[in-house]
Amino acid sequence: METTASKKLDTAFKKDVYDGLNACPKYLHSKYIYDKRGDRLFQDIMEMDEYYLTNCEFEILDSHKAAITECFGNGPSGFDLIELGAGDGKKTRVLLDHMVQNNVNFTYRPIDISENAVNNLTANIYKDLPGLAIQPEVGEYFQVLKRLQKYNKRKKVIMVLGSNIGNLPHPRAIEFLTRLASVLNNKDLIFMGFDQKKDPKVILDAYNDPAGITAAFNKNLLHRINRELGGDFDLDKFSHWETYNPETGTAKSFLVAQEDMEVNIEELTLSIKFSKWETIHTEISQKYDANTIQWLCNESGLQIKEQYTDSREYYRDYIFCKGSLFSF
Ligand code: TRP
Repeated sequence: METTASKKLDTAFKKDVYDGLNACPKYLHSKYIYDKRGDRLFQDIMEMDEYYLTNCEFEILDSHKAAITECFGNGPSGFDLIELGAGDGKKTRVLLDHMVQNNVNFTYRPIDISENAVNNLTANIYKDLPGLAIQPEVGEYFQVLKRLQKYNKRKKVIMVLGSNIGNLPHPRAIEFLTRLASVLNNKDLIFMGFDQKKDPKVILDAYNDPAGITAAFNKNLLHRINRELGGDFDLDKFSHWETYNPETGTAKSFLVAQEDMEVNIEELTLSIKFSKWETIHTEISQKYDANTIQWLCNESGLQIKEQYTDSREYYRDYIFCKGSLFSF
């Protein structure tokens, strides 16, 4: 028999929040941080000096744009540049500007789960680069990938910037890369950013800024539950906590309850108890090294074609193609 609560779980957000807060230990998916308020806070994170990821990738794209464009190819039939998780497209713009200036024949297909982000990005590109063919889409990676499976008309370059892959634990990253590999034809490419292992202090600072922007961003999950699901989380009674394990390369974000409390979520008919120091795990941000990238490629049927790094070697963008070992 269905419970009263489960009858109300009519959206993915409700179901995920219900499952995550009833689990032991508790968790919430970080993708729900990104509503309008969350997008704005993430913009602020990307502007912080401590959050080196954005600047490093910007530097890589800027200093290697000619080589990257050449590797993508400029054949007569052109290609589709499909960007998963396009966000505000600020970094991508470096490449787009260069490719438009050099008359590269391509269509830009930005895809993001945030409708707000896709709308802003498209409006800006229409304004600044009127000559660029752009076909934006709102959706989740795996739904979009399903659609891409049927798309074989011309060369594809699938781009995932921002070390977004790092939000997946290795088995899920392999699943993701394997699915990407399965939609690639022989000449198709993947262009993907991977944040690298480095001084653990640098990593911790990036996810634990003194101004508390990251804390506000992480807590936006609770804010959103309050607003959209009628929750009564007291945000001041949770603190943001970050850990980084230099052996595994995994950074983890938590929200930690500062006292015993009970939280009610009206829309879920749910009352959840927290004991003092109990945690909600919200995010992982995996950092990589050369061996790990090679292992991920081997497991996923991919091959490294090129790689580019920044002056401090904090971050790497890779170009992958289908691995010859696995194609029949
Ligand atoms: N997931 C992104 C990253 O790994 C964004 C992010 C930055 C983040 N700081 C965070 C997500 C803190 C959750 C909590 O870089």
